[in-house]
Parts: sequence; structure tokens; C-alpha cells
Amino acid sequence: MGYALKETEYRYRAYTKNGKWEKGSLTTDKYISIHEGSNVFHYGQALFEGLKAYRTKTGEIQLFRPDLNFIRINEGLRRLVAPELPEDLFFDGILEVVKANIDDIPEYGKGQSLYIRPFVIGQGMNLGVKPSDEYLFSVFCAPVGTYFAGGLEALSFVTTDYDRASANGTGQVKVAGNYAASLYPRSLAKKAGYAGVIYLDPLTHSKIDEVGAANFFGITHDNILVTPVSSSILPSITKRSILYIAEHMLGMEVEERDCFIDNVDEFKEAGACGTAAIITPLKSITHKGKVTQFGDGKVGPTIKKLYDILVGIYYGDIEAPEGWIQKI
Ligand SMILES: Cc1ncc(COP(=O)(O)O)c(C=O)c1O
Repeated sequence: MGYALKETEYRYRAYTKNGKWEKGSLTTDKYISIHEGSNVFHYGQALFEGLKAYRTKTGEIQLFRPDLNFIRINEGLRRLVAPELPEDLFFDGILEVVKANIDDIPEYGKGQSLYIRPFVIGQGMNLGVKPSDEYLFSVFCAPVGTYFAGGLEALSFVTTDYDRASANGTGQVKVAGNYAASLYPRSLAKKAGYAGVIYLDPLTHSKIDEVGAANFFGITHDNILVTPVSSSILPSITKRSILYIAEHMLGMEVEERDCFIDNVDEFKEAGACGTAAIITPLKSITHKGKVTQFGDGKVGPTIKKLYDILVGIYYGDIEAPEGWIQKI
């Protein structure tokens, strides 16, 4: 079952009719029966999102910035020439699923949460390479712990010659094909004993793009938080939040700019960030056989501070900037 701690009972399904989304409903059926000619099986018209529900100390349930997942899923749907989701349908799916599976939301204090997976697929008989006529929007969820084993333990990563997405391709949206393309380089890195891969920019292979399914950030020796810009990076909601926390809550300078792999020792700390990865400190990056270790190879003080604030906000222990938390 991988990252999931268990399966939950209820999921949400909604369908299009004549190209328009109709209201969905809950079901306990975890299997989807669709036509063998469905676009999702052949041409990869599939897109997903990932967000979490957290249980606070007082037992309340809250979502972290779900409005940004809503915006991002529609950016992806536009890229896939699939019908955009109305806001009320997206939130109906999420809220129905969280409420129906509320007993499976892990208790406060264990570092666990309920991972919510909305997705859209193109379905129906379609042998030509063109957008589907019919679509499914579904949401399911599962309680989860940490994505990279070890919590705040720093992990070693290695660069890869493979790309997860091309320079003007689909890297900026969460389409399924990006993840299919990532499985082989990931497996090579795992076999070689690394926690995962560092993707470089696909055009020049000289700049850091991403850390597996997470964004990269580094802290320079003069304490500036830097995160890369590129046309093939998924714009991470966690990264956006970390930039804000660094600038407005820790008073740090922040920069979004190129991070050259040959200059990676400009960072005294480095991290991977994402809904699943939360903040995972990088112990080292190996590039063409050269190992660059960050600091003493353990979680550094700035990353620890960022982590404590971010996780404090997730679980309601620290007051969130306005609009970040949606209570259920
Ligand atoms: C490729 C990729 N990069 C980055 C992220 C992190 O994004 P977010 O912080 O919005 O979860 C994810 C996970 O969603 C991802 O799949």
C-alpha cells in the first residue's frame, strides 16, 4: 500500500454529461469500470492533486490551502484540454470524502494526517489521439505518516540524466505522465542506495529543477532562502508557503532564481518540500560522482525552524497567515 497506512471506506465520483460536470456522490466501490478504449489508458489524459486534512490538538479538522489545489487542478485540466472543474464541485468532493472518512483522520501528535487525492481521467471509447468526450472526477483518501522514512533525518540524493518532463512540456502541471517518466530514474537511484533523484533543467542539465516529487530549496551561506525557477517545475504549494514563512515570519531574504548544480556548495542547508515530503532535509547531492554535503549532514537550524512553523500551522499550534486554513 506504500505511503498509505490503510484504505478508507468512502470515495467521491462525478462525471461529465455533454461536456459539463454534474454533481457527484459518495460510493464505497473502490474499483472503476471504464471502457478499454478510454484515453486515460492510451494517451494519458489523467491529472491529480494532493492535499491533507489535519487533526488539531482540540480535535478540529482542517485543510491547508485547498484553494491553491483547486487553482492548480484547473491549470492542469486546461493543459490536457479537459473541462475545468467548478469550485463547488471540487470542494464538494473533498469535503464529502473527509467528512465521510472522519474517523480515519489520525489523532493529533503522531505526525500523521489524512492524504486526499482528487483526480480526473478522460474515459469512453476513443481510439484517435484527441481529447475525451467524457470525464470522471474522483476523490479518495488515506491516512498517512511521513513520505520519506525518517522524518527530519537528512537524506542523500543523486542527480539523473533523465528528465521527468520537457522544457515546454507538462512539468508545471500534475499530469500522470510526468510520474510514469519518473519511475525509472527513481528506481536507478534507489538501487544505488539514494533516497531519490534530483532532476536538472531539461534544456541544459546545469540547474536544479526538483527533488523527486518535491521542490528544492537551499539556504545560502549568507542566509538567503533560494528556490529555483524553471518551466518544468511543478509550482509547489508548500514551497510557496515556505517562501512566505521565511520572508514574513523569520525575516529572511528570499530569492527565486537559477540554482546551478556546479555551484550547489553555495548552500549550507538544502531541503525538499511538498505536501507529502513536508520538509525533508538533504544530507548530500551526488552529481557525476562528486558528493556535496550540506553542513554537518544533519538537519540545519533554518530548515528546522521552517519545519516547526510549517508543521505548527498544519496542526493548528501556530496561527496561520490569513486564508491558509480551511476548517471542516
Ligand atoms: C513533481 C512535484 N513537485 C513538487 C510537489 C510539491 O507540491 P505541493 O507542495 O503543492 O504538494 C509535488 C507534490 O505535489 C510534485 O508531485
